[in-house]
Amino acid sequence: MRIAIIGSGYVGLVAGTCFADSGNDVACVDIDERKIRMLQDGQVPIYEPGLEELIKKNVKEKRLTFTTNLTEGVQNAQAVFIAVGTPEGESGEADLQYVLAAAQAVGRAMKQYTVVVDKSTVPVGTADKVREAIAKVTDVEFDVVSNPEFLKEGAALDDFFKPDRVVIGADTERARNIMGELYAPFVRTENPILFMDTRSAELTKYAANAMLATRISFMNDISALCEKVGADVDFVRKGLGADKRIGYPFLFPGVGYGGSCFPKDVKALVTTAREYGLELDLLRAVERTNERQKKLLVNKAVKHYGTLEGKKFGVWGLAFKPKTDDMREAPSIEVIEGLIGKGATVIAHDPVAAHAAKRVFGDRIRYAELPYDALEGVDGLFVVTEWNEFRHPDFARMKSLMKTPVVFDGRNIFQPARMREQGFTYFGIGRNK
Ligand code: UDX
Repeated sequence: MRIAIIGSGYVGLVAGTCFADSGNDVACVDIDERKIRMLQDGQVPIYEPGLEELIKKNVKEKRLTFTTNLTEGVQNAQAVFIAVGTPEGESGEADLQYVLAAAQAVGRAMKQYTVVVDKSTVPVGTADKVREAIAKVTDVEFDVVSNPEFLKEGAALDDFFKPDRVVIGADTERARNIMGELYAPFVRTENPILFMDTRSAELTKYAANAMLATRISFMNDISALCEKVGADVDFVRKGLGADKRIGYPFLFPGVGYGGSCFPKDVKALVTTAREYGLELDLLRAVERTNERQKKLLVNKAVKHYGTLEGKKFGVWGLAFKPKTDDMREAPSIEVIEGLIGKGATVIAHDPVAAHAAKRVFGDRIRYAELPYDALEGVDGLFVVTEWNEFRHPDFARMKSLMKTPVVFDGRNIFQPARMREQGFTYFGIGRNK
């Protein structure tokens, strides 16, 4: 099948590449000439394990092309995916200007029946707006489908090739057939395609992210209580997760959730509900807990040292989570801004996100090439992202480099008892044992 993807960001690039890899002829379109030139030269603008190799393979086999020419990309496509950004608007709603502009451009370019697919995370009712926008500029037949993407950064290819489910909101048989055919290579009975109406599909995406964010904030609240009552959240987490109705994933307390999706989507869902006269109190509390959580490590440090003025700290991990260089809404921003705002200096290491972090912090902090380089003469270490390479360090070497062996472990990657045995003063999240 010939398809086009408008927007070569995270979602667009991964979807385009994976569809090409299952034999389709895919044109990835973007208005950013620099980005398209990079991609044509085989360079991938984002860090995602396995993506570069897969792009190169499909470009070589001539199934995947990159262009700034939307008309050329769209005109013979049976399905066109809109995967452009939906930044947060002024009052917390998702800003749809890029989606609607792309929809009209697609409408002008299409030559025969086309399925136009909303892939970006868009508020309930957007498919109707997209339909209206296209109908204004063309007489060609088309359907609008909502097909939200659930992939996680760092595991994007795996998530796309082996999705738990594919959600497709489509109102006609014709559109359902085309979408079903496209996704057939990736689904089996136990991870099905779920066909529904467009509004339900749109809401499913927000509800899924809001539910996951709720689990995290819930565990962060429980971890705060653990500290008060003298329990260990790691035991509590396991005890909860073992219940099949609850399950283990997304129960890790930490420095708060970040990234391009959870903070924005929770806010947008609250805003949507408000537009319909409904106050989602639970989700507002989820947000409040997350804000508190992002400040937790710095508060613990202030309590421990008295003042942070003139102190020097190492930070391990800058990206909002491991296996990505994405700094969007990264909890490291709140932690580092908190530290330098209180008069401390910071030297940070991240295996891949330093270049992205430089755009956030500039030269207000120092960057270390290797994890141990971020420890020399420091008054303490903050672990903010749980990269695997931080899990089994040489503790004796760490101690010999640090001025005082104090660790604020924002991801509970170390064992408190073991850290104390090694002579560290250790602060985890919700852990006393
Ligand atoms: C998320 C959704 O998982 C995905 O389905 C959707 O398509 C996009 O948003 P992503 O933003 O890539 O994906 O990250 P995810 O792995 O879900 O983590 C989000 C945040 O929650 C991170 O900051 C992470 O550190 C935090 N988190 C996750 C926790 O604090 N505890 C957990 O147990 C899990």
